[in-house]
Amino acid sequence: MSERDVIVACDFKNRADTMAFLEQFKEEKPFVKIGMELFYGEGPDIVREIKARGHKLFLDLKLHDIPNTVNKAMKNLARLGVDMTNVHAAGTIDMMRAALEGLAEGAEGERAKLIAVTQLTSTSQERMQKELLIPNTMEETVAHYARNTKEAGLDGVVCSPLEAAIVKNACGSGFITVTPGIRYPDGNQGDQSRVMTPAKARETGTEYIVVGRPITQAPDVVAAYRRVCGDFLGK
Ligand code: C5P
Repeated sequence: MSERDVIVACDFKNRADTMAFLEQFKEEKPFVKIGMELFYGEGPDIVREIKARGHKLFLDLKLHDIPNTVNKAMKNLARLGVDMTNVHAAGTIDMMRAALEGLAEGAEGERAKLIAVTQLTSTSQERMQKELLIPNTMEETVAHYARNTKEAGLDGVVCSPLEAAIVKNACGSGFITVTPGIRYPDGNQGDQSRVMTPAKARETGTEYIVVGRPITQAPDVVAAYRRVCGDFLGK
């Protein structure tokens, strides 16, 4: 079985808040996800600093451009030492292949995992059909984009935990799913509408869950992280 982990979404507005959060962890070194806001605000040094503190890092920038540009950008992200990063599957199989090659060429050690976004969960089926002119259902589109991702040689896709089974059926169990939208029934759902508990997510076979506010906004963040790890990883 491939490796499984809890990824903590560090959606903080700046470096200071991010470091204040991470400093609370004395024993564990959570796998951290940072996104566009922090990366564009703080620059690549934020990645170097988190990596230097011993965390694994998922850089969630969702690249989508012509293959040559994405290839060169990925080479630079690989040099930063990220452990996981992503692209939009809508960029085509050629673009995803170019991304993977860039990541491999820039890697000093092991190549970072590369995963694709199929359809953003903010896109409804209606908008996808009317605005993007994709006539299929959301499920068919997600499965098709996941198959394209596999054909390009990537490691997996980001999807809702409710879609993990569709992806596993389309691409096989060795193809990784990374699933946000994790909540406890006793917690605040926030803006997430299609949610699942860590224990339920574990039953779907998903390899990675991405958990933000249920950990970052908890009164005791270390206890919250441990609870999620206990339920998802069984430890
Ligand atoms: O705070 P919360 O647990 O909702 O954080 C989930 C994280 O996963 C956020 O960083 C969010 O941007 C990201 N994400 C998501 N849904 C997707 C893709 C990414 O919630 N479809």
